[in-house]
Amino acid sequence: MTEAPAIQVALGGIPAYELLDSGNRRKLERFGSVTLIRGEPKAWWQPALSKRDWNRARAVHHEDTGWQLQPGCPRSWDLNEGNLTFRARISDTSKHLGLFPEQAPHWQAIRKMATPGARLLNLFGYTGAATLVAAEAGWQPTHVDASKPAVAWARQNQSASNLDQKPIRWIVEDAMKYVRREIKRGSRYDGILLDPPAFGRGPDGNIWKVERQLSELLDLCRQVLTPRPRLLILTTYNIEASSLMLHNLLGDVMKPYGGHLEAGELALSHFAKPDRLLPLSIYARWTVKP
Ligand SMILES: C[S@@+](CC[C@H](N)C(=O)[O-])C[C@H]1O[C@@H](n2cnc3c(N)ncnc32)[C@H](O)[C@@H]1O
Repeated sequence: MTEAPAIQVALGGIPAYELLDSGNRRKLERFGSVTLIRGEPKAWWQPALSKRDWNRARAVHHEDTGWQLQPGCPRSWDLNEGNLTFRARISDTSKHLGLFPEQAPHWQAIRKMATPGARLLNLFGYTGAATLVAAEAGWQPTHVDASKPAVAWARQNQSASNLDQKPIRWIVEDAMKYVRREIKRGSRYDGILLDPPAFGRGPDGNIWKVERQLSELLDLCRQVLTPRPRLLILTTYNIEASSLMLHNLLGDVMKPYGGHLEAGELALSHFAKPDRLLPLSIYARWTVKP
Protein backbone atom coordinates (compact mmCIF):
# COMPACT_ATOMS: atom_id res chain seq x y z
CA MET A 1 0.00 0.00 0.00
CA THR A 2 1.24 3.54 -0.72
CA GLU A 3 2.35 5.39 2.38
CA ALA A 4 0.77 8.85 2.68
CA PRO A 5 3.09 11.71 3.69
CA ALA A 6 2.67 12.91 7.28
CA ILE A 7 1.32 16.46 7.24
CA GLN A 8 3.07 18.64 9.82
CA VAL A 9 1.90 21.58 11.90
CA ALA A 10 4.94 23.85 12.28
CA LEU A 11 4.45 26.27 15.17
CA GLY A 12 5.94 29.70 14.61
CA GLY A 13 6.43 32.73 16.81
CA ILE A 14 9.22 34.87 18.22
CA PRO A 15 9.55 36.49 21.68
CA ALA A 16 8.82 39.97 20.27
CA TYR A 17 5.42 38.84 19.00
CA GLU A 18 2.27 37.36 20.52
CA LEU A 19 -0.95 36.24 18.91
CA LEU A 20 -3.18 37.23 21.81
CA ASP A 21 -6.53 36.04 20.48
CA SER A 22 -8.54 35.54 17.31
CA GLY A 23 -12.16 35.13 16.34
CA ASN A 24 -15.00 36.62 14.28
CA ARG A 25 -12.54 36.78 11.34
CA ARG A 26 -10.14 39.09 13.18
CA LYS A 27 -6.97 38.67 15.23
CA LEU A 28 -5.57 40.57 18.21
CA GLU A 29 -1.77 40.68 18.18
CA ARG A 30 1.17 42.23 19.95
CA PHE A 31 4.15 43.33 17.88
CA GLY A 32 6.72 44.50 20.44
CA SER A 33 4.80 46.84 22.74
CA VAL A 34 2.05 47.64 20.23
CA THR A 35 -1.21 45.68 20.29
CA LEU A 36 -3.30 45.77 17.15
CA ILE A 37 -6.24 44.20 15.36
CA ARG A 38 -6.24 42.96 11.78
CA GLY A 39 -8.65 40.95 9.64
CA GLU A 40 -8.07 37.18 9.68
CA PRO A 41 -10.31 35.28 7.23
CA LYS A 42 -9.45 31.91 8.79
CA ALA A 43 -10.62 32.80 12.33
CA TRP A 44 -14.19 31.46 12.08
CA TRP A 45 -14.59 30.84 15.82
CA GLN A 46 -15.54 33.05 18.79
CA PRO A 47 -12.78 35.05 20.53
CA ALA A 48 -11.55 33.83 23.93
CA LEU A 49 -10.83 37.30 25.39
CA SER A 50 -13.41 39.91 26.37
CA LYS A 51 -14.44 42.94 24.28
CA ARG A 52 -12.63 45.07 26.86
CA ASP A 53 -9.36 43.27 26.10
CA TRP A 54 -9.84 43.75 22.36
CA ASN A 55 -10.70 47.44 22.85
CA ARG A 56 -7.24 48.04 24.33
CA ALA A 57 -5.66 47.67 20.84
CA ARG A 58 -3.77 50.80 19.77
CA ALA A 59 -4.31 50.27 16.04
CA VAL A 60 -7.08 48.60 14.03
CA HIS A 61 -6.93 47.69 10.36
CA HIS A 62 -10.24 47.78 8.45
CA GLU A 63 -10.35 46.12 5.01
CA ASP A 64 -12.32 49.03 3.49
CA THR A 65 -10.88 52.12 5.20
CA GLY A 66 -7.37 51.04 6.24
CA TRP A 67 -5.63 51.74 9.56
CA GLN A 68 -7.20 53.60 12.47
CA LEU A 69 -4.62 54.60 15.11
CA GLN A 70 -5.11 55.61 18.75
CA PRO A 71 -3.34 58.87 19.71
CA GLY A 72 0.33 58.19 20.44
CA CYS A 73 0.45 54.88 18.54
CA PRO A 74 3.79 54.75 16.68
CA ARG A 75 3.89 54.26 12.90
CA SER A 76 7.16 52.36 13.04
CA TRP A 77 9.17 50.60 15.73
CA ASP A 78 11.83 47.89 16.07
CA LEU A 79 11.39 44.17 16.77
CA ASN A 80 14.25 41.89 17.77
CA GLU A 81 14.76 38.27 16.81
CA GLY A 82 18.02 37.05 18.35
CA ASN A 83 20.71 39.44 17.06
CA LEU A 84 18.50 40.66 14.23
CA THR A 85 16.39 43.82 14.22
CA PHE A 86 13.33 44.19 12.01
CA ARG A 87 11.39 47.40 11.61
CA ALA A 88 7.62 47.05 12.01
CA ARG A 89 5.76 49.68 10.01
CA ILE A 90 2.12 50.70 9.68
CA SER A 91 1.63 51.90 6.10
CA ASP A 92 -1.41 53.29 4.32
CA THR A 93 -1.14 50.71 1.55
CA SER A 94 -0.96 47.41 3.43
CA LYS A 95 -2.29 45.52 6.42
CA HIS A 96 1.10 43.80 6.78
CA LEU A 97 3.74 45.16 9.15
CA GLY A 98 6.89 43.81 7.47
CA LEU A 99 7.33 40.59 9.43
CA PHE A 100 5.59 37.20 9.41
CA PRO A 101 6.40 35.56 12.78
CA GLU A 102 4.75 32.30 11.68
CA GLN A 103 7.75 31.82 9.36
CA ALA A 104 10.10 31.18 12.31
CA PRO A 105 10.25 27.38 11.66
CA HIS A 106 11.65 28.15 8.18
CA TRP A 107 14.29 30.42 9.76
CA GLN A 108 15.36 27.47 11.95
CA ALA A 109 15.73 25.27 8.85
CA ILE A 110 17.72 28.02 7.08
CA ARG A 111 20.08 28.22 10.07
CA LYS A 112 20.41 24.45 10.31
CA MET A 113 21.18 24.00 6.61
CA ALA A 114 23.69 26.88 6.42
CA THR A 115 27.23 26.13 5.40
CA PRO A 116 29.81 28.89 4.84
CA GLY A 117 29.67 30.37 1.36
CA ALA A 118 26.64 28.37 0.16
CA ARG A 119 24.42 30.48 -2.12
CA LEU A 120 20.75 31.03 -1.28
CA LEU A 121 18.17 32.56 -3.63
CA ASN A 122 15.26 34.23 -1.81
CA LEU A 123 12.43 34.87 -4.30
CA PHE A 124 9.58 37.22 -3.27
CA GLY A 125 11.83 38.14 -0.32
CA TYR A 126 9.78 41.18 0.89
CA THR A 127 11.44 43.01 3.83
CA GLY A 128 14.27 40.52 4.13
CA ALA A 129 13.62 38.51 7.30
CA ALA A 130 14.69 35.19 5.77
CA THR A 131 17.54 36.87 3.86
CA LEU A 132 19.02 38.32 7.05
CA VAL A 133 18.58 35.07 8.99
CA ALA A 134 20.47 33.36 6.13
CA ALA A 135 23.25 35.98 5.95
CA GLU A 136 23.80 35.81 9.70
CA ALA A 137 24.00 31.99 9.52
CA GLY A 138 26.69 32.01 6.80
CA TRP A 139 24.75 31.72 3.53
CA GLN A 140 25.48 34.15 0.68
CA PRO A 141 21.92 35.31 -0.07
CA THR A 142 20.47 36.87 -3.20
CA HIS A 143 17.23 38.65 -2.35
CA VAL A 144 14.73 39.23 -5.17
CA ASP A 145 11.56 41.27 -4.90
CA ALA A 146 9.58 43.28 -7.45
CA SER A 147 8.97 46.12 -5.00
CA LYS A 148 11.61 48.84 -4.64
CA PRO A 149 10.20 50.03 -1.28
CA ALA A 150 10.26 46.43 0.08
CA VAL A 151 13.93 46.04 -0.90
CA ALA A 152 14.78 49.47 0.60
CA TRP A 153 13.06 48.38 3.83
CA ALA A 154 15.02 45.08 3.78
CA ARG A 155 18.29 47.04 3.44
CA GLN A 156 17.31 49.18 6.44
CA ASN A 157 16.75 45.94 8.38
CA GLN A 158 20.24 44.81 7.28
CA SER A 159 21.81 47.98 8.74
CA ALA A 160 19.67 47.84 11.90
CA SER A 161 20.89 44.23 12.37
CA ASN A 162 24.56 45.29 11.97
CA LEU A 163 24.94 43.03 8.95
CA ASP A 164 26.22 45.68 6.48
CA GLN A 165 29.41 43.68 5.97
CA LYS A 166 27.57 40.53 4.88
CA PRO A 167 27.61 39.68 1.15
CA ILE A 168 23.92 40.12 0.28
CA ARG A 169 22.80 40.81 -3.31
CA TRP A 170 19.65 42.97 -3.38
CA ILE A 171 17.69 42.71 -6.64
CA VAL A 172 14.52 44.60 -7.65
CA GLU A 173 13.17 42.34 -10.38
CA ASP A 174 10.39 40.00 -11.43
CA ALA A 175 11.17 36.61 -9.83
CA MET A 176 10.59 34.53 -12.97
CA LYS A 177 12.61 36.88 -15.18
CA TYR A 178 15.49 36.86 -12.73
CA VAL A 179 15.69 33.06 -12.49
CA ARG A 180 15.58 32.74 -16.31
CA ARG A 181 18.49 35.19 -16.54
CA GLU A 182 20.49 33.37 -13.87
CA ILE A 183 20.08 30.06 -15.75
CA LYS A 184 21.43 31.69 -18.94
CA ARG A 185 24.36 33.22 -17.04
CA GLY A 186 25.25 29.82 -15.54
CA SER A 187 24.71 31.16 -12.01
CA ARG A 188 23.74 28.37 -9.57
CA TYR A 189 22.31 28.21 -6.00
CA ASP A 190 22.57 25.69 -3.16
CA GLY A 191 19.24 26.70 -1.69
CA ILE A 192 16.04 28.48 -2.78
CA LEU A 193 13.20 30.07 -0.81
CA LEU A 194 9.93 30.90 -2.55
CA ASP A 195 7.22 32.88 -0.81
CA PRO A 196 4.99 33.85 -3.71
CA PRO A 197 1.85 35.92 -3.20
CA ALA A 198 -1.38 34.70 -4.81
CA PHE A 199 -1.24 37.74 -7.08
CA GLY A 200 1.53 40.24 -7.75
CA ARG A 201 3.22 42.44 -10.30
CA GLY A 202 6.79 42.64 -11.57
CA PRO A 203 8.52 46.07 -11.61
CA ASP A 204 7.44 46.59 -15.24
CA GLY A 205 3.82 45.72 -14.45
CA ASN A 206 3.66 42.11 -15.71
CA ILE A 207 1.22 40.07 -13.69
CA TRP A 208 2.15 37.16 -11.40
CA LYS A 209 -0.59 34.58 -10.67
CA VAL A 210 0.55 31.74 -8.49
CA GLU A 211 -1.84 29.09 -9.81
CA ARG A 212 -0.81 29.82 -13.39
CA GLN A 213 2.94 30.28 -12.99
CA LEU A 214 4.17 28.37 -9.94
CA SER A 215 4.80 25.12 -11.74
CA GLU A 216 6.86 26.88 -14.44
CA LEU A 217 8.80 28.82 -11.81
CA LEU A 218 9.61 25.60 -9.94
CA ASP A 219 10.91 24.06 -13.15
CA LEU A 220 13.19 27.11 -13.57
CA CYS A 221 14.29 26.72 -9.93
CA ARG A 222 15.27 23.11 -10.67
CA GLN A 223 17.52 24.37 -13.47
CA VAL A 224 19.23 26.97 -11.29
CA LEU A 225 20.16 24.55 -8.48
CA THR A 226 23.70 23.26 -8.00
CA PRO A 227 24.16 19.47 -8.47
CA ARG A 228 24.20 19.10 -4.65
CA PRO A 229 21.47 21.39 -3.26
CA ARG A 230 20.85 21.80 0.47
CA LEU A 231 17.44 23.47 0.84
CA LEU A 232 14.22 24.35 -0.99
CA ILE A 233 11.25 25.91 0.80
CA LEU A 234 7.93 26.83 -0.79
CA THR A 235 5.28 28.75 1.20
CA THR A 236 1.93 29.96 -0.08
CA TYR A 237 -1.12 31.60 1.42
CA ASN A 238 -4.51 32.98 0.42
CA ILE A 239 -4.99 30.52 -2.40
CA GLU A 240 -7.04 27.42 -2.98
CA ALA A 241 -4.24 24.96 -2.39
CA SER A 242 -3.30 22.26 0.08
CA SER A 243 0.04 21.27 1.54
CA LEU A 244 -0.29 17.97 -0.36
CA MET A 245 -0.23 19.96 -3.60
CA LEU A 246 3.00 21.65 -2.52
CA HIS A 247 4.39 18.25 -1.45
CA ASN A 248 3.66 16.89 -4.93
CA LEU A 249 5.27 19.89 -6.66
CA LEU A 250 8.47 19.83 -4.59
CA GLY A 251 8.59 16.02 -4.72
CA ASP A 252 8.85 16.19 -8.52
CA VAL A 253 11.51 18.90 -8.51
CA MET A 254 13.73 17.33 -5.83
CA LYS A 255 13.30 13.63 -6.74
CA PRO A 256 16.83 13.28 -8.20
CA TYR A 257 18.42 14.43 -4.94
CA GLY A 258 16.96 12.07 -2.32
CA GLY A 259 16.86 14.12 0.89
CA HIS A 260 13.94 14.78 3.20
CA LEU A 261 10.62 16.32 2.13
CA GLU A 262 7.96 17.54 4.52
CA ALA A 263 4.78 19.54 4.04
CA GLY A 264 2.21 21.10 6.29
CA GLU A 265 0.82 24.29 7.76
CA LEU A 266 2.56 27.19 9.46
CA ALA A 267 0.51 28.07 12.52
CA LEU A 268 0.58 30.22 15.65
CA SER A 269 -0.69 29.38 19.11
CA HIS A 270 -2.86 31.87 21.01
CA PHE A 271 -1.88 33.49 24.32
CA ALA A 272 -5.54 33.39 25.43
CA LYS A 273 -6.10 29.76 24.34
CA PRO A 274 -2.81 27.91 23.72
CA ASP A 275 -4.47 24.73 22.47
CA ARG A 276 -6.15 26.65 19.65
CA LEU A 277 -3.84 27.05 16.65
CA LEU A 278 -4.34 29.63 13.91
CA PRO A 279 -3.31 28.27 10.48
CA LEU A 280 -1.59 30.98 8.43
CA SER A 281 0.06 29.41 5.42
CA ILE A 282 0.93 26.10 3.85
CA TYR A 283 4.42 24.95 2.95
CA ALA A 284 6.63 22.21 1.61
CA ARG A 285 10.26 22.01 2.67
CA TRP A 286 13.01 19.88 1.19
CA THR A 287 16.35 19.47 3.00
CA VAL A 288 19.43 17.47 2.15
CA LYS A 289 20.06 14.43 4.38
CA PRO A 290 22.77 15.31 6.90
C1 LIG B 1 4.07 38.71 1.33
S1 LIG B 1 5.62 38.84 0.64
C2 LIG B 1 6.53 37.44 1.13
C3 LIG B 1 6.89 37.41 2.63
C4 LIG B 1 8.40 37.34 3.00
N1 LIG B 1 9.10 36.29 2.29
C5 LIG B 1 8.63 37.21 4.52
O1 LIG B 1 8.65 36.12 5.05
O2 LIG B 1 8.76 38.24 5.16
C6 LIG B 1 5.35 38.70 -1.10
C7 LIG B 1 6.34 39.57 -1.86
O3 LIG B 1 6.29 39.23 -3.25
C8 LIG B 1 6.63 40.39 -4.00
N2 LIG B 1 6.23 40.17 -5.40
C9 LIG B 1 4.99 40.19 -5.95
N3 LIG B 1 5.04 39.88 -7.27
C10 LIG B 1 6.35 39.64 -7.56
C11 LIG B 1 7.05 39.26 -8.75
N4 LIG B 1 6.41 39.08 -9.91
N5 LIG B 1 8.39 39.08 -8.69
C12 LIG B 1 9.05 39.28 -7.51
N6 LIG B 1 8.43 39.65 -6.36
C13 LIG B 1 7.11 39.83 -6.38
C14 LIG B 1 5.92 41.52 -3.28
O4 LIG B 1 6.56 42.76 -3.56
C15 LIG B 1 6.08 41.08 -1.80
O5 LIG B 1 7.18 41.71 -1.21
